[in-house]
Amino acid sequence: MRELKELDAWLTSRDSVHEVLAPSTLPDPTFMMDGREMVSFSTNNYLALATSPRMKARAHSALELYGIGNCESRLLGGNLEIYNQLEDRLAGIKRKESALLFATGYLANLGVLPALVKSGQLARAFGYSPSTNWKHAFFTDEFNHLSIREGIRASRAPSFAYRHVDMNDLEQKLLASTAAVKIIVSDGVFSQHGDIVPLPDMMVLAERHDAVVYIDDAHGTGVMGMTGAGTSEHFGIESPRLILMGTLSKAYGCIGGFVATEAYVARILRAGCSAYGFTSTLPPDQAAAVLEAIDMVQDEPERRRRLWENQRHFVLRMQEAGFPLLATQTPIVPLFVGDEGESTRIAAALRAVGFHVDAIIFPAIGPGQSRLRFIMNAHHTHEQIDRLVEEVKRVMPAS
Ligand SMILES: Cc1ncc(COP(=O)(O)O)c(C=O)c1O
Repeated sequence: MRELKELDAWLTSRDSVHEVLAPSTLPDPTFMMDGREMVSFSTNNYLALATSPRMKARAHSALELYGIGNCESRLLGGNLEIYNQLEDRLAGIKRKESALLFATGYLANLGVLPALVKSGQLARAFGYSPSTNWKHAFFTDEFNHLSIREGIRASRAPSFAYRHVDMNDLEQKLLASTAAVKIIVSDGVFSQHGDIVPLPDMMVLAERHDAVVYIDDAHGTGVMGMTGAGTSEHFGIESPRLILMGTLSKAYGCIGGFVATEAYVARILRAGCSAYGFTSTLPPDQAAAVLEAIDMVQDEPERRRRLWENQRHFVLRMQEAGFPLLATQTPIVPLFVGDEGESTRIAAALRAVGFHVDAIIFPAIGPGQSRLRFIMNAHHTHEQIDRLVEEVKRVMPAS
């Protein structure tokens, strides 16, 4: 206990620990806090679906039909028909044969990555005798999401971090490996960096080195590609080597995670992934709302058009103002600051004039690499964006 109290005292004494907001309404992207209207440039509710009347109506009717929670895991009595329907839709969007649902995206990474390694070991306990003693290894972008890093660690397989989006470094690491099963893991859109995995080049390496590619498309799903199917659609890539993970908690405006794969991989995961089979999944009204969100991404394409139009407007205005943006390819647009204290000061100054922008600081990013992360939204107005840029100019004078 003394150790925990000492740690708490140290944490609370750090001036770079940033304040977590507690809004009283959901950002879509405007929200209320302390009786005042604010504009969020931080929410992952990219398409403003979370508060849409259509989704609320669908969730309401599912709530009436099913009740509040699903009090069983999928492998027992909790396998509602609506989960199967949702998995079929998600597999279809990702152009894969099958999909599995999880309670959150975090849990999907935490469960699936170790299960890819450990399912064979588990099956041995039931008499399976593998033809070879397969050795696995992970090859992971140094800036992958924390849930990926934790999932890989839980697998206990060797892992090799390659430099961010550096395919030459990845190839060196693949060449040096003697593992029989090589699994390359990357974010599709990098959540703190706003850039995109170089998937075409990665697939060439995967073919050359007979590797599996696992893409966490939390920020690509619903946003990237002609129909919002994600990063693989953005690049026009389909391959049996690809395992596509996504969340339902960002562009789709709900909660939950999924992986979409070949049918045989899905069968192995249903049998061997405890984060799928030994915990409850998302509540049924959420599954119904996600089905509505998938329809809306398809039949309300103007939402994505407005998102991208706002992204271009913001990037242009920031570039005109001379700000060196770190990435401009996606709705996540980071601005480098460096010093943690300075980032939190700027975020607080923006908050004081009604804008929520996240200061991304260590340990979410390396020490001295802090940044302001602007996330664009389909429902931002040009007036809000222009006002934000003026405020950034005021609180962050050119160095
Ligand atoms: C890249 C990435 N992967 C996974 C997750 C976890 O998703 P969820 O919020 O659904 O647990 C996040 C969430 O921030 C993310 O940014």
